[in-house]
Amino acid sequence: MAFKRLDAETFKSQLRQYLTPARAIASPQHLKGRAKTLTQIERAFNSDGKHIFIYGDRGVGKTSLAQTAAYLRQSSDARPLLVSCGGARFLDTVRDAVKQSLPAGDAVFQKKVEHKLKAGIGGFGYDMTRSLTSGVLPPFETLNDAVQLLSVVSELLSREPVIIFDEFDQLADDAERKVCAELIKAVSDRSVGVRFIFCGIGTSLEDLIGVHLSTGRYLSPVQLDRLTHDARWQIVEDAAQAIGVTISRPHQIRIGQISDGFPSYVHLMTEQILWSMYDDPVPVGICSQEHFASGVRQAVQETETTLKIIYDRATQKYSDDYQEVLWALADDHLLRRQTTDIYEKSYLRIMGERRHRKRLTKRQFSDRLNKLKTSRHGEIILGKGAGWYEFRENIVRGYVRLRAENEGVRIGTEGYG
Ligand SMILES: Nc1ncnc2c1ncn2[C@@H]1O[C@H](COP(=O)(O)OP(=O)(O)O)[C@@H](O)[C@H]1O
Ligand SMILES: [Mg+2]
Repeated sequence: MAFKRLDAETFKSQLRQYLTPARAIASPQHLKGRAKTLTQIERAFNSDGKHIFIYGDRGVGKTSLAQTAAYLRQSSDARPLLVSCGGARFLDTVRDAVKQSLPAGDAVFQKKVEHKLKAGIGGFGYDMTRSLTSGVLPPFETLNDAVQLLSVVSELLSREPVIIFDEFDQLADDAERKVCAELIKAVSDRSVGVRFIFCGIGTSLEDLIGVHLSTGRYLSPVQLDRLTHDARWQIVEDAAQAIGVTISRPHQIRIGQISDGFPSYVHLMTEQILWSMYDDPVPVGICSQEHFASGVRQAVQETETTLKIIYDRATQKYSDDYQEVLWALADDHLLRRQTTDIYEKSYLRIMGERRHRKRLTKRQFSDRLNKLKTSRHGEIILGKGAGWYEFRENIVRGYVRLRAENEGVRIGTEGYG
């Protein structure tokens, strides 16, 4: 029987649902490879006064995990609140969250607030009551304002409210981190029934929150790693199934390898491959090498601009030398590598496939590596001393692999364990 293509609307709607290269996920069905972590978070939430801190590389899936965990915890009477810590004052961020939760002009809520105020919570005056019920909140001047307003949220608006404080790494300075630490303590010590999930780019909790929460009593840390190969394949497999086509094992494996465990590349490549199959003049049910290659080419085009800029700046657009050096560095699953290893294990192999190109000597090679550390090349890599190097941002590795693949150079093909 000939393969029958989906109609355009169904195809697009399935694609949108299963492949989200530019949007964080909020449901366990689409969140691959994080079941254990979700359980860990659920258990932490089970102890009173505990909050969650998720940290890891940019693009690894922090916001997605936070949103999914928040939806699981949040009682059905409201939605989790999500705010970014990019502003100048942390208290303003808290205020934004409270504001999001207020049902402006709701008569029932107004009654509840008035009743509560009579009963003596908060100690707010008439003005605050008005503010609360109109949805126009005055600035929070003190920590106490924030705690009281949060208790209003937890007592009047939702049984189990969750607030996600995203992009914690953007918090202005140490003074603001201190305010945040004090808020966490106050909320926990005074048994305010609200839970926080923080997300931040970083390699350690200490780096992110400093010394203020050193006790560890209030925060449960979740270090988020790149997706396992299984989870990467699951994204491809689910999407292909939803469309009713096959992306074979070897192609799934290759998508997983190129992505280096950063899910957005898996979504993007799969999306573009499925489009290229859909666009084939003959209805096709199985992905061919051509569909795969055209999907990769399109994925390079569609990659987020900030990543392209990093790559172009580092390679100065026209220099193949620099591209090949970057490809070599991104070839291994180890994030941090030493010059000799990069040169002998990766660079020489890559150049063996590029006979038309002049090979750098090891000396020239280390010179290029060193240059890639400089601001002229956007500091795309970091030197870690004694000839060790790594990418400043690990998410860049996936784009480097994608570019190499698009030039017909296969890197990152080491096992998938
Ligand atoms: N566990 C996962 N399974 C499938 N896709 C994921 C997963 N986690 C994240 N993604 C996808 O990866 C991309 C980056 O996720 P995001 O949560 O925004 O990362 P971060 O907040 O760490 O920068 C998004 O496109 C999202 O849809
Ligand atoms: Mg995020």
